[in-house]
Formats: sequence, C-alpha cells, structure tokens
Amino acid sequence: MTTPRIKTVLNDTNPLTEVTVKGWVRSFRSNRFIALNDGSCLENLQCVIDFESFEEGLLKKISTGAALEVSGTLQESQGKGQRVEVQAKEVIVLGEADPETYPIQPKKHSLEFLRANAHLRVRTNTFSAVMRLRSALSFAVHQYFRKEGFNYVHTPIITGSDAEGAGEMFRVSTLDPKAPPLTASGTVDHSEDFFGKETNLTVSGQLEAETYAMALGKVYTFGPTFRAENSNTSRHLAEFWMIEPEMAFYDLDANMDVAEDFIKNVLSYVLEHCEEDLLFLEKRLLDEEKQKPQNQRSEMPLIEKLRFVVDQNFVRLSYTEAIEILQNSTPNKKKKFKYPITGWGADLQSEHERYLVEQHFKCPVILFDYPADIKAFYMRLNEDKKTVRAMDILFPGIGEIVGGSQREERLDVLEARMQAMGVDEKELWWYKDLRKYGSAVHSGFGLGFERLVLFASGMGNIRDVIPFPRTPQNAEF
Ligand code: 4AD
Ligand code: MG
Repeated sequence: MTTPRIKTVLNDTNPLTEVTVKGWVRSFRSNRFIALNDGSCLENLQCVIDFESFEEGLLKKISTGAALEVSGTLQESQGKGQRVEVQAKEVIVLGEADPETYPIQPKKHSLEFLRANAHLRVRTNTFSAVMRLRSALSFAVHQYFRKEGFNYVHTPIITGSDAEGAGEMFRVSTLDPKAPPLTASGTVDHSEDFFGKETNLTVSGQLEAETYAMALGKVYTFGPTFRAENSNTSRHLAEFWMIEPEMAFYDLDANMDVAEDFIKNVLSYVLEHCEEDLLFLEKRLLDEEKQKPQNQRSEMPLIEKLRFVVDQNFVRLSYTEAIEILQNSTPNKKKKFKYPITGWGADLQSEHERYLVEQHFKCPVILFDYPADIKAFYMRLNEDKKTVRAMDILFPGIGEIVGGSQREERLDVLEARMQAMGVDEKELWWYKDLRKYGSAVHSGFGLGFERLVLFASGMGNIRDVIPFPRTPQNAEF
C-alpha cells in the first residue's frame, strides 16, 4: 500500500483524518516530538508520541536517520512552528540508524564533510533543497523547448571526434593497458580496439546535433559531457550536464535571443514552483554571507537576484568593446588582474568576465564576435576575417554560463579553418557533408547545467549542485 507524501499531508485541510506516513527521522526531541521528512518538501511533519504508552525498546530505536512508518490522527498543532501535526498511535521502525555511527546529525555540518558523505548529504535541508531545485530546472528545460517546437535528440556519449578541439578527452578503450597491440611504427594499434579506432567520451554533442538541426530544424540535447581538463575550481567538473540547442536558419542575433529567453524562462519556472526551497537557500546564503568581509558579500538576496535576471535585458557587447573597457579599467591600470589585458586578441579569464558583469555593467552580459584564434573551428568567420560569430553569456558570481556561435556553413571557409587549426578532416567527413548537401545558416549554444543550478541555488561550489561530483582525484560513489 502506498502512503501519502508528507507534502500532501501538510497541506491537508481536513483535520482529524487518520493518516499513515513514511519517512526518515530528522530529529527526536524529549522522547515526544519526531520531525519526519520524506523528501517531498523541505518542511518536516511533526509526529507527537505519548511516550508513556510506547515501549522503551521502541523509543530507543527512534533516532535521527531511522526510517519510520507512523500512523495517527492529523490535527491542528498545539505548538508553534507548524500548522498541523500527527498525534501518533502507532510507530513502526522500518530501519534503524545507529546514533553512534550515523554521520548526519541534527546540527550544522561543513560542506566539505557532507561532500565526503555524498550518499547521505541529500538527507539535509540544504542538499534536498538544491536537488529538488535541480530536478525542477531540468523539467523546465524540457518544457521550454517543447513549447518552442524543439525536438530532443540523444547524441552519442562515445565519439571519435573532439568537437571543441581542446584535446581534453577521456579515452574509451578495451585494449589491455599493460600490453596494447602495437603498429609497425610502435604506436598503439587502435584498429584492434573495440571500435576499430580511437574513441573518447564526448566533450559536446554539438556536431551531431547540427546534423539533426539540418533536418528537424530545431533540436536540443541535454546530456552528460566529459572534460579531462585539470581545473580544480569551484566552476569546473570533469562530468557535467550540458544543454545544447541547435537551430537551422537562425543567425547569431536570433541565437542570442533564444539563449536569453531560455534562461529567463527556466528561472521564472523555479521562482514560481520552488518558493519554499528558494526561501530556505536564500536564508542559508544570508547566514553564510554574514561570515564574509563586507566587500565580498553579494548585494542582492537570492530571490531578488533571480528576479533581477528575469526582468533585465542582458547587455550585448562585442569582444572588441569589452577589451577597451577592460584595458581602461581601474583593476587593469592598478595591475590587480592576474592576467593583465595588454591588447586585442587576449583570451578573457574569469576575473575579466566577472569584472564586466559584477563591477562594470552589474547585469548579465552577452559578448560576441571574438577573435577567431581563441575560438573553435566551427564558428562562422566574419567579413573582417579576424573575428568569428561567437557569443558567450556571462553571469554574476559564475562567469561564463553559455558558449555558442553561428556555425560556418560555407564548405571552403570551413575547410580552410580546419586546416589552419589542425582539425582531423577525415574524422569529420560527415560534418563537412552538411555543408555539401543543403547547407544553410544555423546557430546554437551550450549551457552548463550545473552552472545554472549554481546560480539559481546560490551555492558557492559546483560540487554541491550535482549528486556525485567527478573532479580531479575524485570519483567516489
Ligand atoms: O563553451 P563550451 O566549451 O561550448 C561548447 O561546448 C559548445 N560546443 C556549445 C555549443 O555551441 N553547442 O561549453 C558550454 C558551456 C560553458 O559555457 C559552461 O557553462 C559549461 O558548458 N562548461 C562546464 N561546466 C562545468 N564544468 C566544466 N568543466 C565545463 N566546461 C564547460
Ligand atoms: Mg566556452
């Protein structure tokens, strides 16, 4: 038999109904008050027991973390802090949790400690709120694209190509690492490997998504992505989820419009549907901010910040204009940047992106038309032959949240770019075919899902917005 979820029970307006609920003990006070949580919402259901009518042996088993089935009468609460409570008649301990060893006690644990206990951390308020928010955001993603007429495509996880050309890939092989077959010249003979060639985990589904956009018109991917970059930062994961829409007949301006509208839409969705969790996360953030020096505190409470992004037009600015602003900025002149901006052509670091967003414009910024040399081979070359139709969206506290572009649809220009950048043309024969048969203007972008959850939850570290983070030296669980 299924029992109602606590969220439903808490909203029940018929007092004196008999209910049976199941959940885990968050705390047990005075041998009388059990705070029960089943993950359906942040709030616990208070179950009150008359300890004199319960056996001592049973009471001992009711401890934080234990799984219980509680039956009793739902009534208006006598105490403060909750509207209703259950006057328990029967408590069945479904699974005990030894208080001597159970790590998640009803007190404040550090995020580091909880990371080491990632299999249990979702039993805390913070992580259950973040993970419900993550779930709601991913639902909002699908809902948005469905409403806008996109088709969801599943691009391969194992590929032979390096879409971003950055060489930061995890190899996939079934060859014996100790004694791989060798070619006559002494290199590993991948023709004997599982796929008969070198393969790796995908760094982006874009190239394959393009093939589908050139038939279905508007598509998106939403799947796991892998990068073996050794960046041990609070913004990078080795395994993350990326959302990549791709649209035929869209130029860069139309692409920026979609990206901005999409982000605003999914944030509006959680503002509307996740109020309880957002209020909790906002309070958590305020408490955390109090520990920081005044000048490092964020200016806006979480919900206000999300509303601000939803209501604001993002600033659109060319890379060239951004470089001028950065070159003349106070931190650049005072040599405060770790990577000083000396002139046009420099790759922007996160410190520069955050200066533009947090200090200069105080608003999300879309930068476009980057130097061709610092961007991927597939981006459309501008008339000036120096810049490409790239765009990055920069967010406060996050830096880059979206990277996208109009794609090079002219075969000759694409081939020249591939050659200049050392991209394996043979491997990408099928990608070139798109430019031979029915080629057309098209565009797309990639949004790092965890960076979106990071922004929406106000958490400070990307490891705390994915259930089981994969980072250098860490693949536990
Ligand atoms: O800017 P990137 O590398 O763009 C692409 O991969 C394109 N193929 C996307 C496209 O046009 N279809 O990555 C896109 C986004 C970044 O803006 C960032 O939000 C996220 O993916 N990202 C990461 N998130 C977490 N950990 C990492 N290591 C990330 N690398 C990129
Ligand atoms: Mg990028």
